[in-house]
Amino acid sequence: MITLKELKKNPYLIEFIEQAGERLRLLQYTDHGLDHVDLVSARARNIAREIGLSKDKQEMCAIAAFCHDFGNFLSRTYHNYMGAVIFQQLFQKDFTPSELAQLMQAIVNHDKYEMEFTDPVSAVTILADKSDVRRERVTVKDKKVIEEDIHNRVNFATKYSKLGVDKKKKNITLVLKIDTSFVPVIEYFEIFTDRMTYCRKAAKRLGYKFNLVINNFKLL
Ligand SMILES: [Fe+2]
Ligand SMILES: [Fe+2]
Repeated sequence: MITLKELKKNPYLIEFIEQAGERLRLLQYTDHGLDHVDLVSARARNIAREIGLSKDKQEMCAIAAFCHDFGNFLSRTYHNYMGAVIFQQLFQKDFTPSELAQLMQAIVNHDKYEMEFTDPVSAVTILADKSDVRRERVTVKDKKVIEEDIHNRVNFATKYSKLGVDKKKKNITLVLKIDTSFVPVIEYFEIFTDRMTYCRKAAKRLGYKFNLVINNFKLL
């Protein structure tokens, strides 16, 4: 198996990630480019380490998370499926069949409605991705335009975001501080209910309970 560091040397992968980020930025989406996948990848590695997965699995979580969104360079719809198939074309020789299958599944599963994932690499990738809410993800500069879109509003209003793992108590907790003068907490729920359901299911797959704390209130 190659490491994330080695995988990052593939110029096609980096180009696809950059174009995914640029395409969605032009469509006024939140960041899906290198900043997002680097952060999600570091977070995935961290979760995997803290819950005690093996070194190889930690690396696989970091790799799946780094590669989860590049399919967006072709299309937003089905970006998870396209990303997985292209990943296989770029890196088949670098992983065992079993590793490749798990990595492809994790890339597909991060945006799949059915939430039928069964393996820890998918669960960790999903937790790391779905918990990435923060002001810096907003790519639009114009405040008026930010206010027009609920995803931009909610991310912009998030002043602080941290995902913590408590191995003893078996808790994974997302702590957020939201500027409620900019967006009411109810708006957060309007778009994040699905994400939080994903996180709950992913945490459960790892034997953990998922908690959500917004402005010091425990909501989940
Ligand atoms: Fe995605
Ligand atoms: Fe993502």
